[in-house]
Amino acid sequence: TSTDVAIVGGGPAGLMLAHLLHRAGIGSVVIDIRTRREIETTHRAGILEQDSVRLLTESGVGDRVLRDGRRHAGIDLAFGGAGHRIDFPSLVGASVQLYPQTDVFTDLADARARDGGDVRFGVGDVSVADIVTDRPLMRFTDADGRPHEVGARVLVGCDGSRGICRSAVPEAERRQYFRAYPYAWFGILCQAPPSSEELIYNHSDRGFALISRRTESVQRMYFQCDPAENVTDWSDARIWEELQQRVRANGYTLKEGPIMSKTVLPFRSFVQETMRHGALVLAGDAAHTVPPTGAKGLNLALADVRVLAEQLELHLRHGDADALERYVERALQRVWKAQHFSYWMTTMLHRLPDASGFDVRRQVGELTSVATSRAASTYLAEGYTGWPS
Ligand code: DHB
Repeated sequence: TSTDVAIVGGGPAGLMLAHLLHRAGIGSVVIDIRTRREIETTHRAGILEQDSVRLLTESGVGDRVLRDGRRHAGIDLAFGGAGHRIDFPSLVGASVQLYPQTDVFTDLADARARDGGDVRFGVGDVSVADIVTDRPLMRFTDADGRPHEVGARVLVGCDGSRGICRSAVPEAERRQYFRAYPYAWFGILCQAPPSSEELIYNHSDRGFALISRRTESVQRMYFQCDPAENVTDWSDARIWEELQQRVRANGYTLKEGPIMSKTVLPFRSFVQETMRHGALVLAGDAAHTVPPTGAKGLNLALADVRVLAEQLELHLRHGDADALERYVERALQRVWKAQHFSYWMTTMLHRLPDASGFDVRRQVGELTSVATSRAASTYLAEGYTGWPS
């Protein structure tokens, strides 16, 4: 087979890129080692920036986000015994939408199927070859183990932080910037009514907790834990006790219910530069990872492929030789702003395992500044709702 753009990875980044290219009349083949069902049942974040919603609606895949998404005009920062609301519209004239990443994926997968897109889930033995030629290759095996090869003009790695594409760039040609954190999130989905209208980002002496939501009867919550924590050590009762203690310190009470899913999510910050080598371009988590606080991961991936689709069109249709380099420049500006924002939200709200009294009081001072300074809360609102591009 041969196509214009071969895309490794059929998550939201890969599918949105294929969708945008299709709208521009550019062909693609997308592969993913996961089945569609595996992707649809892996719970991810739930907040879409204003421009992510716009990208979905303007490209014709926004029906469900407009119908089922829930507008959030602010968040509660909870610390020092009380909640403090950050109001996005009055600070930056924007808001965000609560709409789960798994639903974004479903909408895009349905759109690809409807438009006759070539998307192959559940493939094996993925590799890329000849990436510094003008005829790079993507290789894989299908469900029956038969080998396939797709030749393309450009290869795009949208295969996430554990994919093969980032390491297909030779070591001498790449730099990896990395930061680890001494904590993780314990994430749950539970059957209960919402505990709060808006999301609560909760700082406490026992560590961070995030109260999010999904539907009127299913809620999403997280609490900071040790990265080595074992979900089997946590009964529903123990989880509720921990969550309640953390939010009670700031005057909240959670509505409890049966817990349907328990997972530990690792934290890290990562960027690989540059984001292109020859005819191989990286987008989304394949090029960069952020810790989850602030929900930047999906939004950053969508921002990457929006710019990449434009630059690919210039490259493929108009032979603009610098177009892919300009993708990298445009993307990296946002990537590092989002890296800082995610790092900042994370370190402001989480408790270090060896935190001193100074560390905790300084955090409360920082949170007080954010909650009471219009300049500081405007920075939070800008980052949370997303920078213009
Ligand atoms: C959710 C996840 C986040 O990391 C965040 O900052 C806000 C919401 C969520 O899953 O709902």
